[in-house]
Amino acid sequence: MTPMKTVIVFESMFGNTERLAREMGDGLAAERGQVVLADVRHVRAEDFAGCDLLVLGAPTHAFSLSRPNTRADAVRQGAPESRAAVGLRDWLTSIDDVFGAGSARPVVAVFDTRVEKVQHWPGSAARKTARMLRGHGFEVIDHPTSFYVEDVRGPLVAGERERARDWARRLMTTVRTGPERKTA
Ligand SMILES: Cc1cc2nc3c(=O)[nH]c(=O)nc-3n(C[C@H](O)[C@H](O)[C@H](O)COP(=O)(O)O)c2cc1C
Repeated sequence: MTPMKTVIVFESMFGNTERLAREMGDGLAAERGQVVLADVRHVRAEDFAGCDLLVLGAPTHAFSLSRPNTRADAVRQGAPESRAAVGLRDWLTSIDDVFGAGSARPVVAVFDTRVEKVQHWPGSAARKTARMLRGHGFEVIDHPTSFYVEDVRGPLVAGERERARDWARRLMTTVRTGPERKTA
């Protein structure tokens, strides 16, 4: 069987979403999958060659994907300024340049991080990401999935790293199952 290639693109202001993306990558690599991990600020078009599964993750800001003003707010709360330059929302607006017309498109799965104690708040970065992707003709598999942090700066709630690993492994199985997979 050809090893499955997964590209994980993440945005992260305080490092929590990045930590989960790395955990997912380690989990997939342990299953002998090929994994490319890319910070949204440094994504290169060539990373996507032969990609079977694209996983996108971002922190929830103001019930949605971050914007320049919410990233500036995160910087005021202690996040490194260098992380504020580009968000997943910006990258998604130019995704058609990466996956041009007629080229094979990978299936996509999306996740976000959110604060556990306000999980009843509506809206999430992952749901917004899924909507934007569908608007660009991508097939989104599984439900937009949230992982939880204890507070704005983190840390991750206990058990979330393991949950992220399990989620990624499940995605791999879903993609390998092929046409029988369920689309969210
Ligand atoms: C400006 C701003 C707005 C936020 N809005 C929300 C929100 O609407 N809902 C929520 O659950 N968390 C919210 N958060 C908390 C972030 O989700 C949290 O900082 C993030 O999950 C941490 O991930 P990161 O370390 O990868 O940046 C907000 C944080 C900031 C800085």
